[in-house]
Amino acid sequence: MYLTREEEKALSGERGEALATAYRILLAVGKLTKATRLVSVVSAHVSGVSHLTIGDYGAEFLERFSAAAKVVVPTTVNPCGMDLKKWRELGVNEEFARKQLGIVESYRRMGVRDSYTCIPYAAFPTPPVGSHVSWAESSAAIYGNSMLGLRTNRESALSALASAVTGKTPYSDLHLDENRRAAVRVRVKTRRRLQGSLDFGLLGYFAGRLTDRPIGFDGVASLTPGEAKALAAAIGTSGGSGMFVLGGSIGSVETVDFTEHEWSLTRDELSDGEVAEAIVLGCPQVLREEMAELAGLVQGRRFRRRCLLFCPRPVYEQARRQGFTRVIEEAGGEFVCDACADFTPIVGGLGVKSVVTDACKGAHYMKRVHGVKTVLADLKSLVRAYTA
Ligand code: F3S
Repeated sequence: MYLTREEEKALSGERGEALATAYRILLAVGKLTKATRLVSVVSAHVSGVSHLTIGDYGAEFLERFSAAAKVVVPTTVNPCGMDLKKWRELGVNEEFARKQLGIVESYRRMGVRDSYTCIPYAAFPTPPVGSHVSWAESSAAIYGNSMLGLRTNRESALSALASAVTGKTPYSDLHLDENRRAAVRVRVKTRRRLQGSLDFGLLGYFAGRLTDRPIGFDGVASLTPGEAKALAAAIGTSGGSGMFVLGGSIGSVETVDFTEHEWSLTRDELSDGEVAEAIVLGCPQVLREEMAELAGLVQGRRFRRRCLLFCPRPVYEQARRQGFTRVIEEAGGEFVCDACADFTPIVGGLGVKSVVTDACKGAHYMKRVHGVKTVLADLKSLVRAYTA
């Protein structure tokens, strides 16, 4: 892989061990993905923030790395394991909180944005169409490539961090035009029009298994932001694809149908029953538009189960100013900012054996991480069944 003189110098350690480590990571990823060179990025999004995902070793690495490294492009970070303001009242224990706060401090020292979100595109300004970026968090990377016209590979926590401190990423895969064409066409042939997070989550979970290359969807003319978020997240959960395209731009490739049959099979695989003891929304975290919809549905009603909604703090603030959070809180909903719905001790701490959600990615991970049964329901049915 070709490196400029400056890149060679940094790799050799002339500009410090932290930067040399970052270049070694980029070089390894570049070789693996057959990159010919590095390309500059205008933004990075780093995962690996919850202590539940990186553990003590990850936290120690970040502490050492952050003593000598600074980000050189605007950098957002994924949710952590708790609400940074009200973790105590949500039942997070002191030891976990201390470790989590240490990780947060390491990222702050490097100069990342105080973001803690897996939907950075909804909470912060997005780069111009066509920009090269380095985004970890598969749902965000897929959303960025497919909906925002960004160019990123599905980065890991380490490779995105390396990009954040160097401003570079390997010029390979989805950074190149020729790799951004659909390799499989999924033809949606359900009897009714798909709508909402559940339908598009099921479609994405099904389609994500078909290929690691971009997926084309026929029969889907447009998507709301919530639907696109659910589709991207589910594709990222079941497979390695980093992008989807809609309609006209799909060439002549293998075609696979998604009918009522595939919808039901996928739902049955992810959903464990009909009734749950708690409600968990927000994997990926909840958008302002989704809060507006939920506020409309629960106005004047009360949740009959504990209901947690995971969202980015800036989105919570926007929705609060518009009055949506008040309506949801009056119905008994509890907002959790900064945190991931799956990699947090909060859901396990509810002491329930089953949760209901409209998120396929959430259903996939919550049963694995929290050991709970997961029930899938679309938002309207969920509100009908769990409010009075
Ligand atoms: Fe976001 Fe955590 Fe789900 S990072 S996409 S809420 S697994």
